[in-house]
Amino acid sequence: MPKLQSLALYIHWPFCLSKCPYCDFNSHVRASIDEKVWAEALIKELNSAALRVGPRRLTSIFFGGGTPSLMHPQTVSALISRALYHWPSPENLEVTLEANPNSVDVNHLRDFKLAGINRISIGIQALNDADLKALGRQHSLQEALKAITTAIHTFKRVSFDLIYARPNQSLKDWQKELETALSFGTEHLSLYQLTIEPGTAFAPLYERGDLILPPEDLAADLFEITQDLTTAAGLPAYEISNHARFGAESRHNLSYWEYKDYLGIGPGAHSRLSLSIGKVATKQYRAPEIWLKKVIEKGSGEEECLHLSLEDQAMEALMMGLRLTSGIKLSTFSKRACRLINPHALKVLCDEGYLTISKDTLKGTPRGIQCLNAVLKKLLSFAFL
Ligand SMILES: C[S@@+](CC[C@H](N)C(=O)[O-])C[C@H]1O[C@@H](n2cnc3c(N)ncnc32)[C@H](O)[C@@H]1O
Ligand code: SF4
Repeated sequence: MPKLQSLALYIHWPFCLSKCPYCDFNSHVRASIDEKVWAEALIKELNSAALRVGPRRLTSIFFGGGTPSLMHPQTVSALISRALYHWPSPENLEVTLEANPNSVDVNHLRDFKLAGINRISIGIQALNDADLKALGRQHSLQEALKAITTAIHTFKRVSFDLIYARPNQSLKDWQKELETALSFGTEHLSLYQLTIEPGTAFAPLYERGDLILPPEDLAADLFEITQDLTTAAGLPAYEISNHARFGAESRHNLSYWEYKDYLGIGPGAHSRLSLSIGKVATKQYRAPEIWLKKVIEKGSGEEECLHLSLEDQAMEALMMGLRLTSGIKLSTFSKRACRLINPHALKVLCDEGYLTISKDTLKGTPRGIQCLNAVLKKLLSFAFL
């Protein structure tokens, strides 16, 4: 029997208890949510997608948000069961839930485990009360620490997120904080440099000069110390912001970066699917209420479905693959797609220490990965002519 093509499933829960001032994810605060209606709609969209996608080998499920730990464990369980009904999966299927410290308690985590979750990713963001407050977080340091320890007691696979390069954060402050983070011994950490996103509450503060980010050289030092400390602790970067013990990488996120097929369910979710008509990029309606209305009416909240040319695919694969420290195999590109790469820029980027090519593998150096957007802009300058 031919091996079925893999599929990673993403399920988006778009609600949070409050909106963090730095966050431009598709997350919304609502006074009340009819969870039964939402659970039915997500299952309905999953059923429609399963018909379109056909038989697959399910490799991971990821509940992201928003704050999916606000979902009822029964909703999570129903969605996992429906996914497994549609697609066979290996015994070690990775099923991740993003959780916030304030919605995490011992009983809830156990219930999520019983519902089928086997990996938890907690949004900690900072390990001191003053910075948690400045980031608009609704939880204290004590709650954050309790969430981490409870998660470690409940799950084998635990990751947590921190945001660094925060206003007024010194190299020493971050070193201490990261050492504390690493001392928990989790198999995975996501460490993001604070970015100011348009439309967030931080954006006007930043523009007015009321919120000041670390200067470029300090940001570079913060990135470097992050690489050094995580590597020394056995959790080297495998992607720009993601660090793991060998073999403990997020299989779900690897599917994006390795440009494998993924299906997104829920408001604002994206998909990349290889169908009989070729590879398509789909996008669901972003506004929760519009998405819900479309699903109730038509069975799907899809807003857009674009056919991707071979060039589009190659470009996307390169942009995603160069995020990985392992880089990308050039032989996976068609000749036509290789023409997207500007050979002069490639040589300069290699000579200047931003990229390396050995045999068939093109990869970013730590310096290149740190400023990947600028590297890609140069490298793909032919594509943008
Ligand atoms: C979908 S969010 C949410 C997880 C969860 N809702 C929470 O906040 O705990 C995923 C992660 O992206 C990171 N993030 C979001 N906006 C960011 C920004 N502007 N700069 C840096 N990291 C950001 C945060 O670390 C966050 O935990
Ligand atoms: S960071 Fe998390 S909790 Fe805060 S608004 Fe974004 S998704 Fe919601």
